[in-house]
Amino acid sequence: MTVAPTLPGAVTVRVPAKVNLELRVGPRRPDGFHALATVYQAVSLHDEVSVARWDDWQVVAAGAYADRIPTDGDNLAVRAARLVADRWSVDERLSIRIDKDIPVAGGMAGGSADAAATLVACDQLWGLGLDRDELAELAATLGSDVPFILAGGNAMGSGRGEQLAPVLARGTFHWVFAISDTGLSTPEVYAECDRLREREGVDVPEPHVSSELMAALRSGDPALLGAALHNDLEPAAFSLRPQLRELRDAGVEFGALGGIVSGSGPTVAFLTESHEASLDLSVSLAASDLCRDLRRAKGPVHGAHVVQSPRGD
Ligand code: C5P
Repeated sequence: MTVAPTLPGAVTVRVPAKVNLELRVGPRRPDGFHALATVYQAVSLHDEVSVARWDDWQVVAAGAYADRIPTDGDNLAVRAARLVADRWSVDERLSIRIDKDIPVAGGMAGGSADAAATLVACDQLWGLGLDRDELAELAATLGSDVPFILAGGNAMGSGRGEQLAPVLARGTFHWVFAISDTGLSTPEVYAECDRLREREGVDVPEPHVSSELMAALRSGDPALLGAALHNDLEPAAFSLRPQLRELRDAGVEFGALGGIVSGSGPTVAFLTESHEASLDLSVSLAASDLCRDLRRAKGPVHGAHVVQSPRGD
């Protein structure tokens, strides 16, 4: 990843991407969000966000996907920093540098990761001493999966995805992520999910995580987990991007233990038996020419954490 120079006095936070091992989408709620039952896993694709005092708000982007993120006030990192500044009456502006390695609009919580990282970085820079609950409450106002990205590991999400509960899990899992050229908009994918359901006249039940997935996580057995992966948004993502189905099928045919659209897509996540199996799968998928880029990662990993601070703690 390209690394821009760090400003003096900067705090740097490293933050992971996520994959939804299971994503059950319930009915659309009156506030426009959908009731979710999901199991998240944090995976080792990381962004790094550095914040330093500056005379105006500024976003500098570097890394693999730098050209695809907004650098104005729409950037979720800027929104996160302003939220903290307003709430704790901090009259300062920041230069925010984002070293971007998580795909943008890929269904891996790239924007949410930058928001989560910025919350942690601002807390450290301004010495606010916020506890986990205060950070999680701020995180939930920025996006449904921001609280999970703060926490990392594996967790169950309910509500609109922001209410977290621990899950019992064992072992490390190996993934290959197949990344597309252009992103998918999360609201569009949810809208397509509603449209397909309406067209089919299906009655949408309250969502629940399956006992198969929970048992697979407890066992640490990747074959069981591969068979239990499930995403209710997948038909909508396939409807908007039919070639994703071909990509998913190809990965499974090439030996993945399971393949699933990650979140709202279009990244497709493949679970493999081992690091070596991930290398083999990457070679086969690269030769198939069905995706732009391939990344290997493992999970679970830690949530957003400070890696550099002038305060030294
Ligand atoms: O919370 P977040 O900003 O990530 O959500 C982005 C969009 O995804 C929402 O505006 C909504 O359209 C859709 N969404 C949803 N139900 C959820 C989470 C997200 O409909 N539980």
